[in-house]
Amino acid sequence: MTRSAAGRARSLNADGMSNQENKQESKPTFFLTTPIYYVNARPHLGHTYTTVAADTLARWKRMRGYDVHFLTGTDEHGQKIERSAVRTGKTPQEFAAEVSSEFRGLWDRMGLTYDDFIRTTEDRHKRSVQYLFSELQKRGFIYKGTYSGQYCVWDELYVEGPPGTHCPDCGRITETVSEENYFFKLSAFERKLLEHYEKHPDFIRPEARRNEVMAFVRGGLRDLSISRTSFNWGIPVPGDEKHVIYVWMDALANYITALGYGSDDPANFEKYWPADVQLIGKEISRFHCVYWPAFLMAAGLPLPKSIVAHGWLLFEQSKMSKSRGNIVRAETILDVLGADALRYFLLREIVFGQDGSFSFDALVQRYNADLANGYGNLVSRTLTMIVKYFNGAVSFPGRSIHASPVSGIENAASDCIKSFNKHFEDFQFSAALEAVWAFMKIVDAYLTAEAPWKKLAQSNDLPMQNRVKQILDTAAESIRIITALVYPVIPDAAAKVWKQLGLGDITKADLKDLQWGDLRPGTKLGELGPVFPRAEKEAIERMQKMEEDRQAQSTADQEAASEQAALSQAKTSGPAEQPPPPHVHESQSAAAMSPEQEADAISQQAAAIPEVRSVSAVLDPVPPGQPIVAPATHAAPPQPAEEAPKIAIEDFAKVELRVAIVRVAERVPKADRLLRLEVDLGYERRQIVAGIAEAYTPESLIGRKVVIVANLAPRKLRGLESNGMIVAASVGEKGKPVLAGFLEDVEIGARLK
Ligand code: ME8
Ligand code: MG
Repeated sequence: MTRSAAGRARSLNADGMSNQENKQESKPTFFLTTPIYYVNARPHLGHTYTTVAADTLARWKRMRGYDVHFLTGTDEHGQKIERSAVRTGKTPQEFAAEVSSEFRGLWDRMGLTYDDFIRTTEDRHKRSVQYLFSELQKRGFIYKGTYSGQYCVWDELYVEGPPGTHCPDCGRITETVSEENYFFKLSAFERKLLEHYEKHPDFIRPEARRNEVMAFVRGGLRDLSISRTSFNWGIPVPGDEKHVIYVWMDALANYITALGYGSDDPANFEKYWPADVQLIGKEISRFHCVYWPAFLMAAGLPLPKSIVAHGWLLFEQSKMSKSRGNIVRAETILDVLGADALRYFLLREIVFGQDGSFSFDALVQRYNADLANGYGNLVSRTLTMIVKYFNGAVSFPGRSIHASPVSGIENAASDCIKSFNKHFEDFQFSAALEAVWAFMKIVDAYLTAEAPWKKLAQSNDLPMQNRVKQILDTAAESIRIITALVYPVIPDAAAKVWKQLGLGDITKADLKDLQWGDLRPGTKLGELGPVFPRAEKEAIERMQKMEEDRQAQSTADQEAASEQAALSQAKTSGPAEQPPPPHVHESQSAAAMSPEQEADAISQQAAAIPEVRSVSAVLDPVPPGQPIVAPATHAAPPQPAEEAPKIAIEDFAKVELRVAIVRVAERVPKADRLLRLEVDLGYERRQIVAGIAEAYTPESLIGRKVVIVANLAPRKLRGLESNGMIVAASVGEKGKPVLAGFLEDVEIGARLK
């Protein structure tokens, strides 16, 4: 790093800049980051949640007079991305660029105020990561060794345990890797990390995550493999280019590479590092609270002030994630209710730090109750009266009102401001908003009790007019306070209301020392208009329908992609090893998981789907026969579509196809072709007898997800009742069964339609 560059930047400030720029310069800084998101999946509400929370914090800090630097971006290297790209038939570069621009496009559409968006495929990042690697090497924290063990590609995580071990985070079966690697001396930082956690109680927030991380470190740290040689999609190790740098080291470094660490222009690094707040989802705590500070310590750099982990957004009872297929896209909500509705919901409904559920019902209910009937209604009823009775002019006499009950409102407003800011300092967005809506209720009740419209109907003399003026101006001033407070959360609506109040552009307003009584007498209201029109019930169905359509579209994309993948796999891969049956994995890292995480890992473990394998390795040739499979799939060679009789959609709808997981599989005595299976649909478990014994061993099926015809009338085979049928392709002249499956991890019980 060239310190002189930063020095130059500083002296320029002192000498060459205008007063205003100098004033800017003297503001306290606030550096805030989100995780950089993997580009293997398009953005969903989970990503939106973190980024919206960060945007809200950034706006709030700016409003409080800070020079904020808000960084987000995309994580584009690693084996997982490389494989996803291959699956879609694109180069990793093309694939990453496409998905990255979807993230950025969505953030722009939502008006998020990030200051920098980093892509890990950018040169500025690559150079700076290599610089960091060399620094660690120079300082003696990197050595060469051989890693033989398990690796989870999905989580890009090294896992302890024998071959066949499941990833403690996602439950997928790990892959065995044996490679010459560079290692980072993580073990050297065990004590130093613990000391740091002890000394800085705010370093990891909330408390629950801090305790987990500390327990994990106390359990002992092993050195960390930080390079791979078996694939290329990454940043080469400087001077040893057959190695690429471990994707988590690459990714974590973004927080400093984006600031110009190790570059010719480290001005931002000098100015903003260490970060004030690094927001993450709780599942990546270990990377951020153990590896990341250890890398920084090793490089001799200061640590971030605070890592703040939030909980998971759940949908249909489990963590919203692409692998489970239970995602909702922000776009759907933007189309129907707008960005503010989504922002408000995410921050009000979920207690930051804890898991919380998303549903369209709850979203619309919150929208109507709090935004349309609450805030929107208070604004419109107050401002409409000011227009109607006083020509739209505010005559508020400033801070001189002390007569009850106005003084009660004034005090309530001051309390609300204090409480709001206190909760924001603690990342308790939900409680902060609750405080504002409680204040809103007080104002509403005040208006209802005073009933200015009745007063004017009773008498229109001057004292009465003055009284009514005072009531409405009090309400208007309350709205000004409320609007300033909610601005970071619902910026579009707040900007509109600010204009309607006659106060101009809210982004230019000085909201640093918000206090009662700053609404100037004589302020002329702007043009009125609806802020949050009520949402009809139909909005729920509309959004659900939009999501279903999007899902259907992406399923079609996936099918096309998996077809392609299967083709290229058949072409390129030789026999693969059969994965051993799932078993419960106990590890030190599992012990450090939260109950939710553990539950999550366990439920995913149960649902673990083996890696995509080469078909030829799993199946032995089978003699001709009639395996018990779905009728449409085991017939003769495929017919051209035009010749097959067409069926109506209603006919297809009669067939109930569902995803199930095989829990038990065993041979049926004296029946060479039959297996007795017990499959789990999530809501029920049932026995199916299937003629696939010559193609699949019982062990290879346990834990595997299959597609079944769930509403087939039961029948008996060899004295065993069979309830349903397994769907398989019938391949080749001999009709070899090949089980239908998914490349994505699909929830059991899911219906195919
Ligand atoms: O982990 N609930 O990227 P990722 C809440 N590239 N937040 C969620 C969520 C959910 N259901 N789903 C996703 C990675 N998130 C790495 C990070 S950082 C140096 C590298 C949010 O695409 C949450 O912030 O899997 C979570 O930590 C992040 O997205 C994970 O995104
Ligand atoms: Mg993830």
